[in-house]
Amino acid sequence: SKEQFVNELLSKMTLEEKIGQLNLPVSGDITTGQAKSSDIAKAIEEGKVGGLFNIKSVEKIREVQKIAVEKSRLKIPLLFGMDVIHGYETTFPIPLGLSSSWDMELIKKTAQMAAKEATADGINWTFSPMVDISRDPRWGRVSEGSGEDPFLGSKIAKAMVIGYQGDDLAKNNTMMACVKHFALYGASEAGRDYNTVDMSKIRMYNDYLPPYKAAVDAGVKSVMASFNEIDGVPATGNKWLLTKLLRNDWGFNGFVVTDYTGIYEMIAHGMGDKYDVASLALKAGVDMDMAGDSPDVSAAFIKTLQHALEAGKITTQDIDIAVKRMLIAKYELGLFDDPYKYCDLSRPKAEIFTDENRAFARKAASESMVLLKNENNVLPLKKSGTVALIGPLAYSAVNMAGTWSVATKQENSNPLLEGLKTVAGKGVNILYAKGSNVDYDLAYEERVTMFGKAIPRDDRTDKQLLDEALAIASKSDVIIAAIGETAERSGESSSVTNLQIPQAQKDLLNALLKTGKPVVLVLFTGRPLAISEENDNVPAILNVWFPGSEAGLAISDVLFGDVNPSGKLSMTFPRNVGQVPIYYSHKNTGRPLSEEKTEKGEFEKFKSNYLDVANTPLYSFGYGLSYTTFEYSLITISNEKLTKDKSIEVSVNVTNTGNYDGKEVVQLYIRDLVGSVTRPVKELKGFQKIVLKKGETKKITFVITAEDLKFYDFNLDYVAEPGQFEIFIGTNSNTKNKILFELVN
Ligand code: IFM
Repeated sequence: SKEQFVNELLSKMTLEEKIGQLNLPVSGDITTGQAKSSDIAKAIEEGKVGGLFNIKSVEKIREVQKIAVEKSRLKIPLLFGMDVIHGYETTFPIPLGLSSSWDMELIKKTAQMAAKEATADGINWTFSPMVDISRDPRWGRVSEGSGEDPFLGSKIAKAMVIGYQGDDLAKNNTMMACVKHFALYGASEAGRDYNTVDMSKIRMYNDYLPPYKAAVDAGVKSVMASFNEIDGVPATGNKWLLTKLLRNDWGFNGFVVTDYTGIYEMIAHGMGDKYDVASLALKAGVDMDMAGDSPDVSAAFIKTLQHALEAGKITTQDIDIAVKRMLIAKYELGLFDDPYKYCDLSRPKAEIFTDENRAFARKAASESMVLLKNENNVLPLKKSGTVALIGPLAYSAVNMAGTWSVATKQENSNPLLEGLKTVAGKGVNILYAKGSNVDYDLAYEERVTMFGKAIPRDDRTDKQLLDEALAIASKSDVIIAAIGETAERSGESSSVTNLQIPQAQKDLLNALLKTGKPVVLVLFTGRPLAISEENDNVPAILNVWFPGSEAGLAISDVLFGDVNPSGKLSMTFPRNVGQVPIYYSHKNTGRPLSEEKTEKGEFEKFKSNYLDVANTPLYSFGYGLSYTTFEYSLITISNEKLTKDKSIEVSVNVTNTGNYDGKEVVQLYIRDLVGSVTRPVKELKGFQKIVLKKGETKKITFVITAEDLKFYDFNLDYVAEPGQFEIFIGTNSNTKNKILFELVN
């Protein structure tokens, strides 16, 4: 059995070999193909490596695995982990974009496809899904998650884990998932990456922990500890988090890996010297140490555990527990049966970046786009006339994949200009001009590159760029302005305090608007931006996020109406940065502004509101338009009283009242009117993405049970309290369509 096998192996291991299993070095010079002569190759041979991080290509992986299973004493195979975040070489939209599809089958399939491609290239472990709830778009990493809501976030966490791991991890086209960043990483103060997190337990349990738990419930095999502290103890050394909550309460039985140099970083946190922090991490429940081998990192398992053991800071049992977890993971992947099971050299060509995968990436991208505004039905465009495509993001392959796309060949992405030409066909005359640089400040542009390449700055002056744009604009029937953030302006270490479109592009857009031609803003972004001014002035706005490999084609599918947009925001768009954090499921407070005044944006003294901006966001959670229109009937309910062991049904009729077939995400929210603790004004508790033909009506029914009404109370008991509840069903979180019911004992 697994237990027996692992115990026997463990009994044969030296202390050095045990500590080696906990070591996840960066692949270093191995990625250059000199595995045999490198230090890492030597370390593998000596049994000092448990896995490798971000090594790419099946040939190299095979070579390295060979060293482990042929040259090391105990022949223990290696794990190969990589940040396969939103696709492998075939790249899907950034996760925040994918979450806007509200389509769990689609999201699951992106993970499945990513697993197929990555495993074809030798990877057996991905550092995904990232499920950090965040309500602060200043934080650049909102691009990597599923937005602000625990209910939607939990469904997506589950879909992704199942997508990656499948129903049988031992297959050669599924891989181990790693839910991250455990925990609360999305709540860093002021949206500054790696900053302090401080949160009440009640908020933690109700709003921030559910997606991690959903991943654990879905069987995720590994967890990544986050950089931030929780209740004053960094997650990497937090025993309450990594053992009490994760293992004892939730029943997680996989392994925990650090986020990069998380152990070493605890020295800067002020948790002690290198031996203290490594011991703290191990005792807290960390099993594997990422990137600890780097020469500038002193506190690493590989460099400290032996001494810590001798000094009595840890025990052999502490080490054995972690080693066992690592061996079990390898066993479950089937690596002891066949260490080369992901090393079939014929697979990459047949399975990576195939036409089939790219076609699916195109679909996933168009499904994730959100139509924010469409005055006078500027969209969809006709496939005739002259289109002026203008903007620094109009012809930039390197920005289409978005952040954290390490395996993507950026240059393979389809830029908008090319996609537009293909989809528009011969009937449309397409003119192109760059119009402006990304922004005026070069230093700033350089700061926002990590994996991608910066868009080369133009030799021309700002005026020359603008003149060229205005010249083609004057010849056009419609202008498409392709502007926004560059890919790396969001993502890790890309926090901002200004949520507006960079100034050079704002100026360009304003100049285009002055021509009087209809303007469509195609907005590239990895976070909710504050675009109040654009919302006031631009007739049509399509938010495309970073759409991935097939960006240009997918955007064009939507612009020309081959695909009717159906994306809905998974994160609120603020009117300005000062409203942040702003999210739909807020509390009412003791001094709420009346609903009427809130809607009108009127100020009232001594109420909870601002002097200078309305309380409402620019675009609410769940918001997104279609080329058609949908009408909702009033809600009907099967029984106004719900008991703890029965269910009730609530229904609406949804009618497609416009001129196109379309998809709608029917959303159900619940408000608990009275609680033993204050409850949010609304919480998402159900949604269904439906297809409606022009003129068609469908009856949509949701089943409600007491389970849907549960929350963590003051004592952190998970309870449904009897009393009155409101149910809202509508097209976004701002719906007023509601009905009352009661939970009775
Ligand atoms: O997986 C990532 C994590 O999200 C951020 N720090 C580095 C890790 C490995 O690349």
